Amino acid sequence: MARHTDQAFRQICKEQGADVMVTEFVQSEALIRDNVKAWEMVDFTESQRPMGVQIFGATPASMARAARLICDRVRPDFLDLNFGCPAHKVIEQNAGSGLLRCTPLLYDLVKAVKDAMPDVPLTAKMRLGWDHATIVAVEVAGRLEELGVEALAVHGRTKEQGYSGQAHWGWIAKVAAAVDIPVIGNGDVHDGPSALERLNTSGVSGLMIGRAALKNPWIFKELKATLTGAPSSAATVSLQERWDTLLRLAELTLEVYKSRLGDRDVRWMLDRLHPLTQGLPGSRRLRDQFQHCYTLTDLRRLRDHHLAEYPL
Ligand SMILES: Cc1cc2nc3c(=O)[nH]c(=O)nc-3n(C[C@H](O)[C@H](O)[C@H](O)COP(=O)(O)O)c2cc1C
Repeated sequence: MARHTDQAFRQICKEQGADVMVTEFVQSEALIRDNVKAWEMVDFTESQRPMGVQIFGATPASMARAARLICDRVRPDFLDLNFGCPAHKVIEQNAGSGLLRCTPLLYDLVKAVKDAMPDVPLTAKMRLGWDHATIVAVEVAGRLEELGVEALAVHGRTKEQGYSGQAHWGWIAKVAAAVDIPVIGNGDVHDGPSALERLNTSGVSGLMIGRAALKNPWIFKELKATLTGAPSSAATVSLQERWDTLLRLAELTLEVYKSRLGDRDVRWMLDRLHPLTQGLPGSRRLRDQFQHCYTLTDLRRLRDHHLAEYPL
């Protein structure tokens, strides 16, 4: 997820049991221009494998070129194409979910990338369609399978929905039934029971977790426990463990960006840490206090005060 699931955050998710991860979407043209921030998004550590790198764009030649550069430089386990982003600045270029109203171009992009990288597994992430009147997910999924896409993640919303309303798992189930490649269902999976229900009723091969992981990276362990019949462990994450994770994320984030941003100031990353404060006692005041944290030492001091205020 853009601006969140960088190398540092993914490390936390991996440690909590995420099986397969994908980078945030990276613009193909930015990679070709050798933009430092774009390449930073592509980076991952060996321990994070299996890793996919997700790219977006609307020009077949650029997508193919970016794919080749990525494969040469970081050898991901798979390349993932974004046909889901609803952001205005993305769809106005006909990229992301904009391609769902322009499927011939979408297929050309897939063909170009597949031809450029025939040996690297190719996957895609898509929404259901542009809006409810033009749902194309089943038709697109079938064509992507023919073109050699090896797995497909489907977010059960349309572009028009943005992130509002509910994900339509009925449509995800139709896609899963229509193709032989693995379909990964996505949208509104936020705990063990919702995961179990989706898996049991939709016929998908896997679940993709987005927003829930930002505030609850322990979710991967919780889901795995639920799927094996164990009691849910969500409630057992202690305040101490939550703080440990938050500080670890801050430390890892400093490490990842220190060559570009220096290694003292934590203020720029506070919005990345905020989701982890959700649900903590006194979280609103805590977020205000975050604004006065400049260094890791300040964050640790805040933790000590908070733990003293809310003893375990
Ligand atoms: C802040 C934010 C950034 C996102 N960035 C990406 C992205 O870069 N690539 C992508 O495929 N989906 C992206 N998504 C969409 C999520 O992957 C996911 O499809 C969506 O949030 C629905 O799943 P959820 O209910 O589990 O969050 C983003 C979502 C959010 C909220």
